[in-house]
This record gives sequence, structure tokens and C-alpha cells, in this order.
Amino acid sequence: MKVEQRVIVALDVADEERAIALVDQLAHVSFWKVGLELFTSTGPKILQELKSKQKRIFLDLKFDDIPNTVAGACRSAARYGVDLLTIHATCGRDALKAATEAAKEGAAQAGVKPPQLIAITLLTSISARQLAFDLKIPLELPEYALQMALLAQESGLDGAVCSPVEASQLRQICGDNFLLVCPGVRPTWADQTDQKRSLTPAQAIKAGADYLVIGRPITAAPDPELAWKRISDELTSSVGLSSPVL
Ligand code: C5P
Repeated sequence: MKVEQRVIVALDVADEERAIALVDQLAHVSFWKVGLELFTSTGPKILQELKSKQKRIFLDLKFDDIPNTVAGACRSAARYGVDLLTIHATCGRDALKAATEAAKEGAAQAGVKPPQLIAITLLTSISARQLAFDLKIPLELPEYALQMALLAQESGLDGAVCSPVEASQLRQICGDNFLLVCPGVRPTWADQTDQKRSLTPAQAIKAGADYLVIGRPITAAPDPELAWKRISDELTSSVGLSSPVL
């Protein structure tokens, strides 16, 4: 398995021009995450651009609404032919089930492969303290993330977004066929910024992550190509992933 098949780079920039400049600069990156900032700015045009460059797409719009509304959103998003799509597990069982069916319908209508539908368990910027004192959730944080992942799995979703700190427990309990997508990844040389529950790229893969989502350590680095190379080298040497020729 190659590094570029396991690392998704978050394209968290404000407009199409900057997004395309980064995609062209980081030519070895083959999987890009389009999130709320960029999609709100460009709409689906950025997805067409990425597809025309043969890139894989994680459309991270984190849907969170009533069953009918999230199902409609997933049906529409699936028509774009994206690879991964997110919805909050806190939407509840009915919404998660409806979203799963709707994503398949949307993809079939458009004649494209259905996206893998991935549940957000708990944002990786939320600390144990915030979970207890601000969100008033009376469960320990790892237990809460696990319960959200299990709810998603029971509802037919393909995987969950979790912090790398929770990945090994989720992997053990949810099994090998449940995708684990981990943001909150920070190389030792990068700033933590707002991520509270992070591990290094190699630690996250060893903990059981299928995909790492990395944004600012690469995209906000003074030299994004060098940052990608350092991460790629770390993964190649410590977990045996093979690296593209850089
Ligand atoms: O810049 P950074 O590496 O922190 O980017 C992480 C990306 O992953 C951001 O686009 C953020 O929206 C996303 N994400 C996250 N935590 C989640 C789900 C998604 O940080 N639980």
C-alpha cells in the first residue's frame, strides 16, 4: 500500500484558485478532502476539477439534520461520484439508515460508484473536559466515540471518523471491515493548533487508521512539498508503506 493511498490532504482553503494551486503543487497527493470552507465557496465545481485531474475525493460536509433532510443531502452528494462522504452519528439511527440508502440511490441515478458513508463520532478538536462540561455528556470520551461508531456500524455505514487516539479500540471492536478515517494527525515537528487528541502519522497507522486526514501541517507549511515528503518518509520508514518517487 502506498502513502498516497492512505493520506488524504485537507484542502481547507477559501477559493478555487488557491485550491487548484495546491493540488497542482502537490502532484503526488492523490486523495483530497473538500470540506465546508471550500465547498461553500466554490460549490460542486471544485469536485469536477479534482475529478478531471483523476483525484479521489473525500467530501466532508458533516451532514447533521433530520432523516429526510440528510437523506436528500446524501442523495445529491452521491451523484458527484465522490469516494467518501460524512454525516454526524448524532443524527441518530433513522437518519443514518436513510442516508445510507439515499447515497446508494443517488449514485445509481448518476451511474457512479456509491460513496463510502462515514460517521463523525466526535470532533477531534473536542477534549474530554469539553465533552463533560460543555456538551454535558456523562460518558468517558473513548466510550462515547466507541458508542457513536457502533451506532454507525449498526445503521449500515461504512466507517467512522475518529481521533487516532481512539483508533485501536475502535478497530478491535468494530472489526477489520469498518473504515477508520483519522484527522487529528500531527507530525512531531508540526503545531498542534486546535487538535486536542492527536498522534503522529506513523502512530495513527499503527493504531489501526485506514486513512489519515492531514491539513495544516502540509497546506500551511512554508514548503508544502517538503512537509508532504517528511510525512511520506516517516510512513515509509516506520510502518513500511511504500512511497512514490518524489
Ligand atoms: O489542519 P488539520 O490537519 O487539523 O485538518 C483536519 C481536517 O479534518 C479539517 O478539515 C477538519 O475539518 C477535519 N476533521 C477533524 N475532526 C473530525 C472530522 C474532520 O479535524 N472529527
